[in-house]
Amino acid sequence: MSCLIHKNIVLGVTGGIAAYKSAELVRRLKEAGADVRVVMTAAATEFVTPLTFQALSGHPVHTDLLDPTAEAAMGHIELARWADIILIAPATANTLARLSHGIADNLLSTLCLASTAPIAVAPAMNHVMWSAPANQENIQTLRRRGTHILGPAAGAQACGESGEGRMLEPVDLTEQLSNLFDQGSLQGLKIMLTAGPTYEAIDPVRFIGNRSSGRMGFALAQAALDAGAEVTLIAGPVKLKLPEKAFCVEVESAQQMHKAVFEHIAGQDIFIATAAVADYRPAETHDQKIKKSDENLSIHLLRNADILSEVAALENAPFTVGFAAETQELEHYARQKLVAKKLDMIAANKVANAQINGEDIGFNSAYNALEVFWNDGAKQLPKAHKTELARQLITLISERYNDKEN
Ligand code: PMT
Repeated sequence: MSCLIHKNIVLGVTGGIAAYKSAELVRRLKEAGADVRVVMTAAATEFVTPLTFQALSGHPVHTDLLDPTAEAAMGHIELARWADIILIAPATANTLARLSHGIADNLLSTLCLASTAPIAVAPAMNHVMWSAPANQENIQTLRRRGTHILGPAAGAQACGESGEGRMLEPVDLTEQLSNLFDQGSLQGLKIMLTAGPTYEAIDPVRFIGNRSSGRMGFALAQAALDAGAEVTLIAGPVKLKLPEKAFCVEVESAQQMHKAVFEHIAGQDIFIATAAVADYRPAETHDQKIKKSDENLSIHLLRNADILSEVAALENAPFTVGFAAETQELEHYARQKLVAKKLDMIAANKVANAQINGEDIGFNSAYNALEVFWNDGAKQLPKAHKTELARQLITLISERYNDKEN
């Protein structure tokens, strides 16, 4: 069943050739049960007439910020309050720049500033414009603020060239918008996650650590919250803002992470181990800074407990999802860990000089790509921003969890 039933959608149409597809989009959104009100920029009206959208949506189309008649019916502030979501499709580079910089010089961008509703954009532009650094920076800014970036798709473009920048098809946009409202897949479930690195102290100023930034784990925690779960996040030392609605425990070392996990594990339904936990710790932590001498120095290391294996071995173990950070033979090593640690699922990612399309993935990057394995299945989640990937992985986890429970 569509999650768009009775949803109030403000559809912003901006001036691109893909505006003609937005007419079909209105029809599909309405078929999915949504109430749609259309706001057009002046440039959009050059491509499609407001009358088309009025006929399809069943409501007058809003085009002007300073139109006394329109303001008397449903003013822009009321429209901003009415919206459950604002979808801008097509979203031109110009409109994305306006949103990213908070410029309120037309009705649509003013509405976005005046509304607390989530905003989704479906970019549509020439592929060179799409990859232009200024546009990409605007996209990153919007993404960081929580704007949902839907697409763009790659393929033949109106300009005759081919590449990334096509607006997603109305059917795909409708589905993706519906997924944004599908917040209930983990409703009533308790999820614990570990995230970030651990620091193993050598002395008061030195430690053994790793390059994990915590981004993947924090994105998963947020996606789990968005899907309705009650989230406990055990976070290693990272520079990220803790998700407001999660119960968070900040730790530094693997031993502290182990203690925090087992203090709160009872009653958890799902455990996701994203943390890059140190496998070893110095046998001795010096109270004072170790003084340099002419001699070489050896540090004796002790094995740390494997938190994930111990959770999976519990009598009433939650559904356990591990991560595998590998530099080669991803599937081989990930499946080995799946079996050895008795996990329900494992998400493998390439680390160490890993790049896709010239962009870093894995440790300390905004992007990642995952290959997810379970006993009798696998799924690839291609390179995407970690927030997007987290949403996809949480959906997959909830499907596998429900399969196991039913
Ligand atoms: O934090 P980011 O910068 O966003 O980077 C994300 C990431 C690359 C760190 C993340 O996607 C990832 O791969 N995390 C797992 C890293 C890791 O330690 O992998 P591993 O193959 O060494 O460990 C396998 C699994 O056992 C992991 O789920 C790990 O959390 C868990 N483990 C490992 C050792 C240990 N003592 N206790 C554990 O729970």
